[in-house]
Parts: sequence; C-alpha cells; structure tokens
Amino acid sequence: MNVEAPRGKTVVVQATDIRKRYGGVVALDGVSLTVEEGEVFGIIGPNGAGKSTLFDVLCGITKPTSGQIEVLGHDVGTMTPHLVARAGVARTFQRTAVFGEATVYDNLRYGRHASFTHSVAGRIVGSSVYRREQAAFHHKAEEVLALSGLSDDRARLGNVLAYGVQRRLAVAVALMSEPRVLFLDEPAAGMNGRETADFISLIETIAPGRTVVIVEHDMTVIKALCGRALVVVDGRPVVVDAPERVFKHAEVISAYLGAEDE
Ligand SMILES: Nc1ncnc2c1ncn2[C@@H]1O[C@H](COP(=O)(O)OP(=O)(O)O)[C@@H](O)[C@H]1O
Ligand SMILES: [Mg+2]
Repeated sequence: MNVEAPRGKTVVVQATDIRKRYGGVVALDGVSLTVEEGEVFGIIGPNGAGKSTLFDVLCGITKPTSGQIEVLGHDVGTMTPHLVARAGVARTFQRTAVFGEATVYDNLRYGRHASFTHSVAGRIVGSSVYRREQAAFHHKAEEVLALSGLSDDRARLGNVLAYGVQRRLAVAVALMSEPRVLFLDEPAAGMNGRETADFISLIETIAPGRTVVIVEHDMTVIKALCGRALVVVDGRPVVVDAPERVFKHAEVISAYLGAEDE
C-alpha cells in the first residue's frame, strides 16, 4: 500500500515498509505511513494488531527488523530514545507511567530532563546555566499545569490521582519538552465517558502548532480528533482514510467483528 502525502505539505513522520519480528511472531509486516505537519493522525486496529509495536518503532524505543523511519528528518531507527526526545519528539505509553511517589509538580521535571544541559556541579553551586534552566522549568510548568487543568493538583502525589487525571499528567509531562511531535499510545484506554471527553478537549487545546499521532483501540477519540487514520490488522496496513470512512471497508469490519468474537 502506498500512502503519499499531498504535495506542498511538510512530512513529519515517514515510515517505509516497517517489519518487526519477535522470534516467530510477525508483529509488523510491511507498514508504511506518512504524517504531515500539523496533522492529528490516528492508528487503529483490534487488540494484538501491532499498534503498540508500531508506536514503539515510530518513536525509537524499539528497532524494527527492517524498514526506515524518519521523524522531523531524523533517522529514528539509528537513534537512542534520548536523542529522539531531544529532536522534539515526546510520547505517552499505553500503561500510565507517572511517578506515584512524586508530586504532580515533580513529575513535570521528568519531562524536562532531555533539555537540561547543566552539570551536577552546576546544580550544587547554583551556576547561571542551572538557574536559567530552573526559571525556564518553573515558567513552563505553570503554563502546562494551567493548560492541562492540573493547577490545583500540583502538590498531590501521583498515586492518589484519579485514573483520568493520571493520564492527563502523562500528557502534561510530555508537553514539558515542548515537543513538535507528540505520540500517544491508547491515551483514553480505561477512561469513563467524562474522562474521555475531558481528554479529547485537552488534545484539541494542545494540538495546534504540533503534529500528533494517536494509537487507539477505541474509535471515539479517533473520530473526535483525527483527520486521517491508518487501520492495522495482523501487522499489515489495511487503509488510510478519514475515521468515518475507514469503517466502510470490508476488511476493517471483519477484523473488528472477528476480534469481538474472541
Ligand atoms: N516484546 C514482545 N515479545 C514478543 N511478542 C510481542 C512483543 N510485543 C508484542 N508482541 C506480539 O506482537 C503482536 C502485536 O502486539 P502489539 O503491538 O502489542 O499489538 P496492539 O498494541 O495492537 O494490541 C502480538 O501478537 C503480541 O503478542
Ligand atoms: Mg497496544
């Protein structure tokens, strides 16, 4: 399947013929995709389709068995996750990864790590670089807290937050690095209807000026946010189209119905 971006747009994510095997399991079997600057792009498919594997490959956490990935012009397949982060890419994981023993405010520091350049010695003596980076951190943290509706939760520990709030914190942590590209793996999984609606409006607020890639099993979030979505079934790309149109494809319908029978 060949998926080309319309002419004149800047391509932010380009994956070409990605394959990934785990021993005898073929998790990805030739996936290509193109995401343009400013898009909110969805990746959907039944459980076990390969969405998380594709996600990990696109943001440099897992190396593909073969295929190329470029994000913001960088060859992600050869970069460490730390370098990918420095290049302007942030992500949240399918399983919530907030630090339960740290406050909301301290959790935000983890999102800023990749951009800190001060040394340990600089921190101890309070060097000018350290002070400048701390001031920038506090400024950014206030902005992100307000944006993500977490200002009143700043002093609470991660492990006492309601599930939907933890997920919003995970996005807030990702925003601390001021990413140009944001990858979200099943951000709304396990949320109730109210939490999902709040989450959708958070993403609507933060999406302008960025490129967002959302992996989801559930269609509510994809329909609300994404201009285009790629459907993956058994590690293969089936269709890329507007979310309301992909479910007209026979192969997509049968894959989802088949998955529900299991
Ligand atoms: N680390 C791994 N080792 C072995 N098999 C894996 C691993 N990660 C994923 N898989 C397998 O790859 C396939 C795709 O998994 P995954 O990408 O998690 O799908 P999805 O996110 O769409 O549910 C599944 O068959 C899964 O069991
Ligand atoms: Mg998954």
